[in-house]
Amino acid sequence: MIKDLSPVRIAIFASGKGSNAREIIHFFQNGRHRVDGRKIEIALIVCNKAGAGVLNVAEESGIPWMLLEKEKFYNGTQYLEELSKRDISFIVLAGFLWKIPPGLIAAFPDRILNIHPALLPAFGGKGMYGNAVHEAVIASGAKQSGITIHYVDEQYDHGRIFFQASVHLSPEETPESLAEKIHTLEHQHFPAQIFRWVECKLSLNP
Ligand code: GRF
Repeated sequence: MIKDLSPVRIAIFASGKGSNAREIIHFFQNGRHRVDGRKIEIALIVCNKAGAGVLNVAEESGIPWMLLEKEKFYNGTQYLEELSKRDISFIVLAGFLWKIPPGLIAAFPDRILNIHPALLPAFGGKGMYGNAVHEAVIASGAKQSGITIHYVDEQYDHGRIFFQASVHLSPEETPESLAEKIHTLEHQHFPAQIFRWVECKLSLNP
């Protein structure tokens, strides 16, 4: 039997600054991380916001990118076809705020992962993004916060949890200082957890 050595291609969906996308791209660059001899490649950046920082990250890294139109994202199969044409087999959401349509979830079963900047199931759901999350954590009097990497289902911030890591809040914590701590934690863990996830999925279903 001929061994499959085709690259494993991941799309990152992101619409913010793209600091996580940058870390992920760097982690997998030049075939540094492989599964059973297969290179893992960040093959596409998908974005819903013209001018988002993540598009500069894509340009700098020479990674193709695609801008989504809302109408087409929620109706029809054009984007599914696009992902299939580009041979994408995993999707990572890194600062992507639109709800993922059921057709996309069905086409990528257990193959879409999101990162949330708090310890779910607390502080998640619609409207819980950016500083709103950190403000709510601080207002609650919580002594710690953290990151949650989870599977994506049809509800915001709801799918099975894959990984969590936490940080302590200092008594003088502000939403801005907490955001910085959380970003550091994300950059530290997200790329390696994506690698662990891909390894684990491919060993179950090559
Ligand atoms: C991250 O904090 C992530 O948890 C959330 O969106 C933010 C994206 O930040 N889902 P960046 O664009 O990667 O800097």
